[in-house]
Parts: sequence; structure tokens; C-alpha cells
Amino acid sequence: MKIKALLLAPIAALALTSCSSIGVHHDISEYVVYGYNRYDPKSIQYVNDFKILQLTDIHLSDKDNQDIHFNFMRKVVNEANPNMIVVTGDLFTFASKGTAKRFFSFLDSFSLPWTVAFGNHDEQCFFSVDWMTETLNNWGSNCYFKDIQDDDIPGNCNFAINIYKGTQIFKQVIIMDTNRYNFNGYWGYDYIKQSQIDWYKSLVDKTTEEAGEVVKSLMFYHIPLPEIDEAYAAYEKGETTLLFGSKEEKTCPPEMNSGLFDVILEKGSTQGMYFGHDHVNDFGIKYKGVDFVYGIKSTDRLYHNQEKLGGRNIVLHTDGTIGYESIFLNY
Ligand SMILES: [Fe+2]
Repeated sequence: MKIKALLLAPIAALALTSCSSIGVHHDISEYVVYGYNRYDPKSIQYVNDFKILQLTDIHLSDKDNQDIHFNFMRKVVNEANPNMIVVTGDLFTFASKGTAKRFFSFLDSFSLPWTVAFGNHDEQCFFSVDWMTETLNNWGSNCYFKDIQDDDIPGNCNFAINIYKGTQIFKQVIIMDTNRYNFNGYWGYDYIKQSQIDWYKSLVDKTTEEAGEVVKSLMFYHIPLPEIDEAYAAYEKGETTLLFGSKEEKTCPPEMNSGLFDVILEKGSTQGMYFGHDHVNDFGIKYKGVDFVYGIKSTDRLYHNQEKLGGRNIVLHTDGTIGYESIFLNY
């Protein structure tokens, strides 16, 4: 959403008091990224054990010896041998446009579909988040990114990508923006806004209508939802088990719980949620039937565990279940 739209929102609210919502509306189908090179709407075809490689918390900066980081990430991608790559935020910290474009070119170089969600640090750069959105919207080639900038949905990366089996949608990859910082009521990490939750509901309903059944989805974002603590408490009480990994630091979800997880349970579409943010947590937990999964930090920038750097494959099995492959490599 552009700042201009934010500034105009209160005026629009006064003028349109009879309307239930404000802003520029787009049909929900516009939020689905269509096709390889955007020519073929059904172009990501499922293959057996389709692997989505999650990379996270790259934090590339202009000051780095970037070759070291790119070489490491290249090793991780080659080892993972994925069918798609998703980066779950904090791509940059104090990066210039040149560094950002170098990273996007790097992701593009594997000739695989790739996309990104944004993290809270992605605004601490020598460019705006809006610039990054616009750049990715127009990247073309293997980039599957589409944020509608003149809409009334907060955030800079809210969209979906379908993975097809023939002409049927097999899985839906949903990217959501957990936004950056909150200054309203408390200072801290931002949260998913109500209109984003309404957008998610509409997306699941539309996809269900199109497929004739509830399509299972995977959601990627940066900051864990507050329920991460409930999930871990359930594990400590013996009510659920860890899928893998360990908790090495206090979790840092937003203070505000805006209720996305309740809607996820109500809708029954999302099987797993994949996020980063807490650099040395790498655990996954199944909680209330949904996988809560931290990524594996993919560079040694900022605080990290030297023994646990790499990435994780999310493996989509033919029977609909999900498996995981953790990839840890030496820097
Ligand atoms: Fe980070």
C-alpha cells in the first residue's frame, strides 16, 4: 500500500461512511501470480516430491563481502535441488538498489520459480519497500511476485501462487506481509491487519470455488504469529511433538494478536506456516493440525548459530502430506 493511500484513508472514511471498507478494490483473482513469464496461468506443474526451498534472514548489506554470502547460498541451493525458492524476509539491511538487484539476479539464476516475503528490516535500506515491491512486480523472468500497490490491503507482499497437477490446483503458496514496526498503542513488531485477514478469507473462498474443494495451502511470512508460544507450551506439556529443530532464543512475535490463526483453523486450508525473524530458532511444531516452522538462517550476517546455517526444503508429497529436509552447510 502506498503512503499516499494511507494519508487519504481517513478522508475517504468520512466521505464514504456508508461503505464497509475503504480504498481501491481489486478482484481477489488479481492477487494470484499467473504463470511462468506470466504467459501461462497454469504453468507451475507439480512433480513428485515437489521441493520448496525456504531461505531466510539474509540481511545482505553493501558493506559485506557479498561474494562469500552468494557462494554459500549457491551451495545451499545446489544441495537442496529444489523446484522453487521462497525467501521469508529480512533480505537486506543497509543495502543499496544495486545490492538488491544483485540478490534478485542471484535468485533468478537458477531458472526456478522464486519469490520473497518482506521482513521488518527490509525498510532499513537505501531504498523504500515500495521501490522493492515495484522492482519485483516488474522483474519478470523466473520471479513470481505480485503485490497490488494501489489497493486497500496493508503490506507490500500479499499474493498467491498456484501449483497445478494438470489443470487442477494441487497446492497454493500464500505470501503475506507481517509488516514492519508498530507505533500505535505499543512500540514493537507490527502485526497482520484485519483487512489482510479478510483478504486471506476471500482468497481461500475463491480458490475453493475454482477448484471445487478446499485447496491445501502453505503460508510464508516473516514474523511468527503469537500462537508460536502456545504451540511451544503445548510441546512442553507433552501435548504435541517437535517436528525437528530446537528453541535457542525467546520467540519474538508481535504483541498484538489480530486473529489470523483462528481464521486459518476455521478455513481448513493452510497446512503449514513458514517464517524466520528469530535467527537461532529452527524448530517446527504441529499445533492444532498446522505446522509452525522456523526457517534456517541462510547467511552468517548478524546474530546466528554457526552450526545451523543453510535452508530447508518443504517437500510436497503426492498424497498431500508435507515432509521436511533441513540443510546445514559449513560457511
Ligand atoms: Fe532477521
